[in-house]
Order: sequence, then structure tokens, then C-alpha cells
Amino acid sequence: MTTTNAFIPTSAYTHNIEKGIFQWSAPSNIALVKYWGKRDDLGHQIPANPSISFTLNNCKTITSVAFEKKDLSTSINETNPIDYSFDLLFEGQPKEEFKPKIQKFLERIAPFMPFLKDYHFTINTQNTFPHSSGIASSASGMAALAMNFMSIEKALNPEMTEDYFYQKASFLARLGSGSACRSVKGNLVVWGNQANIEGSSNLFGVPFSGKVHSVFENYQDTILLVDKGEKQVSSTVGHDLMHNHPFAARRFEQAHENIDQLIPIFENGDLEAFIKIVESEALTLHAMMMTSMPYFILMKPNTLQIINAIWKFRAATKIPVCFTLDAGANVHVLYPENVKESVLQFIQSELVGYCQNGQYLCDQIGFGAATL
Ligand code: DP6
Repeated sequence: MTTTNAFIPTSAYTHNIEKGIFQWSAPSNIALVKYWGKRDDLGHQIPANPSISFTLNNCKTITSVAFEKKDLSTSINETNPIDYSFDLLFEGQPKEEFKPKIQKFLERIAPFMPFLKDYHFTINTQNTFPHSSGIASSASGMAALAMNFMSIEKALNPEMTEDYFYQKASFLARLGSGSACRSVKGNLVVWGNQANIEGSSNLFGVPFSGKVHSVFENYQDTILLVDKGEKQVSSTVGHDLMHNHPFAARRFEQAHENIDQLIPIFENGDLEAFIKIVESEALTLHAMMMTSMPYFILMKPNTLQIINAIWKFRAATKIPVCFTLDAGANVHVLYPENVKESVLQFIQSELVGYCQNGQYLCDQIGFGAATL
């Protein structure tokens, strides 16, 4: 089994590089079986249960990292032994309020990337989706950043294997935001130990290696923007409330069971069974929020209106369209490509009215991070 130590470089870097720049895009992802709860006893960002997600294609973060050797004699001293110096630009403009998150990320990945202290970084990042759309950019953002830092490490150590590169990138992304580890590689990604998924790990996401039916090819995700405001409760706080949650133990078992059930469903393309699991997962996630202490509700009245309309439409037309939810009020409408036209018509005629300013985003399953 891969341990954390496997990602700590054991020898000096073989190449000496003064400066350079890399650029990567990384997509968002939507969990089918949700990660909700962390095992804080096992280290940073270890999930309490395994999760599996579709990688998205259009909702992405694009990040470049320019790096330049620092004058170590002046920038590191006894009072400031490790100075991760970086500038952060969001859409080309300095963005001070994002810096603490990046600083924390650098501190967490530093034990695995000794070169960090030697360079000054200029990070320039932007999203392809609207900034205040209520779509979390932490998964795509942390994954894009992790890819760039891995490219720097690879430049210093060119003999690194591709497997190591992607596995470590996912491992680093996880330290920034748990779900980010599922945004690195593959269209269907598993994160967390799951007995019958070979290679699955709590430390990084792995592309699902089982058979997948063609009905899942180009699977569609239309994201209905119900509420674009800031969430009242962050995911990180929500995860924390799973400690001492009255239903936590059963929920964590259920996630394992649901992944087990999805394995044959991916192979045989049974969309009725797929929909049952995916919608139940979404509602269970929100049920966990409603039954934690303190309790909270992230759905809005329009979230429920949309869910009811989807159920009604599905019952009337037999079109296999379903919903899932993230930690927020927006609704992800999932459906196979061959019913795209009818579902988009349904969305435009019946669901758009429930979206803030009538806004929705069309996305579909994608393949992970890409270098630009
Ligand atoms: C509901 O990955 O955002 O989207 O690890 O604290 O950064 P942190 O949390 P985050 O949690 C995502 C939770 C979720 C479900 C999922 O994506 O699996």
C-alpha cells in the first residue's frame, strides 16, 4: 500500500532550475457517492468514507505558476525559517483574501516538496465559470495548483514516472481540499479505501478501473444556479459536524454499500438503479446536515421545486434524468447524452424559472487536468 512517506523525496533534486512557468487547467467534479466527514485521527484530510465522482469538463480553473529562485541568504532567517513567498493574482488582479488558503496549502504540502522554500511563486488563476455562481472552486482550484507544483518537481526530477506524477498531484490536491483529489485524472474517480476497488486509497483519488457502459459516455450535467450567494455553513465546518453525529457510523457504511452497488451498474448501464443511488446520496448528504448539531439547511425552496419537477417529468416521460446536490442549493441535473435535447427543452421550459436570474451551466463528463 502507498504510504504518505512514498511522496517524500528521499534524495536531492537532480536538476537545478533558476526559473520557469507552468500552466494547468483542472476541472470541478460532482460526487455520485458523497464525501462527508473526515477521519481527523489519521492525519490531514482523510475521508471517513469512500466517494466516487464524475469529472466535469467545462467548469474549470486555469492556473499558472511562475517560479524563480530566491536569494536564500536574505529571505530565510531565524525568525522566519520558512518563508513561502508568493504573489496571488485572480483574473490578473492581486487577490489578498485568497492568500491564507494558499499559504495553508503550501504549509501542508511543504513536507513533500522541499523545493518550495527555495523559490518565489507568482500564481495567476481564473475560473471558466462565473465567480459568484455558488459553484465551489476549491476542487478545481486546488487540483490546478497541485498540478503546477508537480510540474515544477518533475522539472527538478525528470525521471519521475507518470503514475507517480498523477498520484502525488492528487495526494497534494487532497491536502488543499479533499474533493480536489478527484479532479486530477480520469472521468470517474474513486477516493477512499474500498475493499473491492483495487488501488483505492484514502490518500489520493484513482480513476475507476472497472467496466463502464457506453450510456455513461458524455454523460451530461446541467447545473441549475439556484442560489449564487455565499453558503452559511462551509463544507469544512459541515464535515466537522459528522464527529459525534448520531447517524454517522451508519452513513459511512452506506457509502461503502452504495459504491459496491454502483460497480455492476456502471458495467450494465442500469440507469434506474443508478438514479436511485445518486438521488439517495444527494438527499442523505443534506439529511446529515439537517440532523447534525448545530443543524443547518443549505437547500432553498427552489431546490425542492426543481427536485419535484424532475420527479414528475421522469415519471411522465420515462426519460432517465436525475438530480444530485453538492453542499449548496444548486441542482446538478444528470442525464445520458441521447436524451439531451428533450432534457434541455424541459429545463428551459420548466426549471429555468427556479434559477437565480435564469442561470444554468451546461457541462458533461470530462477527463481531468490538462497542461496548457
Ligand atoms: C458535499 O472537498 O469541499 O461536495 O476537504 O474540507 O475542502 P474540504 O471539503 P470539500 O467537501 C466536498 C463535499 C461535497 C461532497 C463531495 O464532493 O464528495
